[in-house]
Amino acid sequence: MEYRISQVDLYIGESEKSLVGTSIDSRWLTEGPHSKNFQARLAELTGARHVFFAPNGTLALFLAALALEPDNGDEIVIPTFTFYGSATASLYAGFKPVFIDVDPETFNARPEAFEAAIGPRTKAFMPVHVYGQACDMEGIMEVARRKGIQVIEDAAQALTVKLNGKQAGTFGDIGVFSLFSDKVITTGEGGILVTNVDEIADRIRLLRNQGRPNSGTFIHPSLGMNFRITDLQAAIGVAQMEKLPKILEDRAKKWRLYSEGLSGVGDIRLMKVLKGSEIVPFRFPIVTADRENLSKTLEHAGIQTRGFFYPMHLQPKLRGPQAQSLPVAERLSAQGVCLPVHVHVTDAQVADIIGVIRRHFGA
Ligand SMILES: Cc1ncc(COP(=O)(O)O)c(C=O)c1O
Repeated sequence: MEYRISQVDLYIGESEKSLVGTSIDSRWLTEGPHSKNFQARLAELTGARHVFFAPNGTLALFLAALALEPDNGDEIVIPTFTFYGSATASLYAGFKPVFIDVDPETFNARPEAFEAAIGPRTKAFMPVHVYGQACDMEGIMEVARRKGIQVIEDAAQALTVKLNGKQAGTFGDIGVFSLFSDKVITTGEGGILVTNVDEIADRIRLLRNQGRPNSGTFIHPSLGMNFRITDLQAAIGVAQMEKLPKILEDRAKKWRLYSEGLSGVGDIRLMKVLKGSEIVPFRFPIVTADRENLSKTLEHAGIQTRGFFYPMHLQPKLRGPQAQSLPVAERLSAQGVCLPVHVHVTDAQVADIIGVIRRHFGA
């Protein structure tokens, strides 16, 4: 179906073309000058000491989980309300995922939920920052440090989101961001790992480059694989960085317009933002018991909608032998609708979307 207003659209053009062209002209396509430049800019943006690339966010999470060297049977606690890759990356790296429920207001898991899930084999936590706000990382890190647990932050959706002035993804041992097409900046596919722990950085460096510190040798002191990217991706990333101020301003405005236009309409519940967290909306999420009908109304009006995550503890290949009930995530999944926030949605279109929803509820 052709939509008048799409859920996702790319903000790319001449500057990306021009920088990719310089890679082609230089006849150097693997990690090179653009990767170095993008890496330095990301270090500055996030404040992280070490920045690495991976081909996508899921592989970045996999690399992060490998870097914690799980023994089979070691557990990682993950909010059930997340993208599939958070769980599968952990599983393939050798962790047993343990799923917890999330807070009904922020949709992120709270420190108490992580603490309650700790058992004798808990080695790691994976807080996930969903929909463009940060989790309570100060609380989660307090639990983790007290209990000797390592932390991988899935900040796939949270590049540029700060909690009390500090970038989400830089509180734990390793943070991961995605550069997929629907993220705040994109390289098509792409992932970023950040860490401030030198020893973990050394391990990631080896793991991502075939178990050797430098390319060009066939002696591999460590196990590893190839998680490198191309300089073409990095060139796009550098061009995207220039657009960040405009993207951030635009998303903040959309958050305000939607919040003002939709609060108090029908039974709609809006996501609350944790005190101290910034919001850089990944989508505009709304919750309503009338989700199915509302989605139909929006789609008939040519507005593409997206549902919420389907919880991990219900996934066919992840659910355990015993049925688990995590009711908040189950309700969110049944009642959530995402509205678009990309740069090409105009103010008039946001007003149009709000109007369609208000009329649906007779408001
Ligand atoms: C929370 C979360 N984790 C992980 C990922 C995986 O990232 P990628 O699509 O780059 O593999 C995503 C992607 O949308 C995500 O939203």
